[in-house]
Amino acid sequence: MLSKEENELLTQTDAGTPMGKLMRSYWIPALLSEEVPAPDSPPVRVRMLGEELVAFRDTEGRIGLIGEHCAHRGTSLFFGRNEECGLRCVYHGWKYDVEGHVIETPAEPQDSDFRKKLRHTAYPTHEANGVIYACLGPREKMPLFPNYEWTQVPLQNAYVTKCLLESNYLQGLEGECDSSHLSFLHRTFTNERNQPLYKSDTAPFYETEETDFGVRLIATRNTENQHYLRFSAFIMPIYGCVPAGRPTNELEGYEIHAYVPADDTHCWRYDIGFRRDRAVREDEVHRRKQINPDYTRVRNARNNYLQDRRMQKTVNFTGIEDFLNHDACATESMGAVFDRSKEHLGVSDKAVIAVRKFLLNSAREVQSGREPPHVVRDGRHNRFPHIDCFAHILPRKVPWREHFDYLTPTARKENPASFAARQKVAS
Ligand code: FES
Ligand SMILES: [Fe+2]
Repeated sequence: MLSKEENELLTQTDAGTPMGKLMRSYWIPALLSEEVPAPDSPPVRVRMLGEELVAFRDTEGRIGLIGEHCAHRGTSLFFGRNEECGLRCVYHGWKYDVEGHVIETPAEPQDSDFRKKLRHTAYPTHEANGVIYACLGPREKMPLFPNYEWTQVPLQNAYVTKCLLESNYLQGLEGECDSSHLSFLHRTFTNERNQPLYKSDTAPFYETEETDFGVRLIATRNTENQHYLRFSAFIMPIYGCVPAGRPTNELEGYEIHAYVPADDTHCWRYDIGFRRDRAVREDEVHRRKQINPDYTRVRNARNNYLQDRRMQKTVNFTGIEDFLNHDACATESMGAVFDRSKEHLGVSDKAVIAVRKFLLNSAREVQSGREPPHVVRDGRHNRFPHIDCFAHILPRKVPWREHFDYLTPTARKENPASFAARQKVAS
């Protein structure tokens, strides 16, 4: 349970709020590369952290992410002309470059230079494996772009989808930190013989560990001779890493689910996945079928997620198709911003509690003028091999801390053997 004040602090991300300031300390997804596919292709609206922006790819291929409303008299630049290295407003022809400079004011006298005094809102961007990330904080405090593994693998080894969720970002994010819902919300009744172990033990033992990047979450289910382990991670400020779609013992990559606030009552869910050693197959991106061209979902609150009550009796727990929609149904139906002073948390919510605490502490750090955790400034430490996610079975007598030593905070010291350790486990 949170107090109303804590709940507000965690859920409000507009400019000027403590959480808004925290979010603006990091690189987070702003849009997909496919939305601005080619130089001079049409601009698109981007709503994030309560800000109204437009993105465009200029003639040279550079990405601009600038304030939507023209600095002259406010017309939306979404309707603008993307031409000759700039975006031109349709009202009086003012033209902007990707850095927010006003480069032409053709309705003004030729000798006018007042455009030079203007600087339109513009944020830096970084494109990696189909995602355009942005940092909405002050330019002078911009951190390094973190070289997460999923941003570094070859393009064909990665996939991404994006969709709109009609609720506050935190409801989505908390779902990533909650292994116990796997045994219910995502349960299927078919193929009983090949069910993963999370079906048989519905009350896992949880451990959480604060790390330099956020919180590692370990859920253990026990059978007679074995541990079934699921390692997940929360990365500051909006990323949940899970072994989604990966069979037990597969160590070949994982999924990253990012929940970017559009405003306080909507968020963008990005599902990014990668394979370490091979190209992704089309069928691994099956989620695309669930998403409309405008990034809303086919199954949504207005059509009750197309829930099928007969299917709910015989096929799966919800009667709804696809994990994406199960999660959306569970978290959107709480209401746009759930009042966490009304909840009743149990032992199974340990990881949710740990992540909230980490976020609250980080927001307070920022409020008191200190830099929050995991803002990357040192290029020598800009790789994160200890962020890893997988499900694994170990003999009951083998402690996971020994077997996966590169994952523990004590092994956080320079650990060049981490990838080697992973290979050893895989073989
Ligand atoms: S409002 Fe954009 S140029 Fe006038
Ligand atoms: Fe889920």
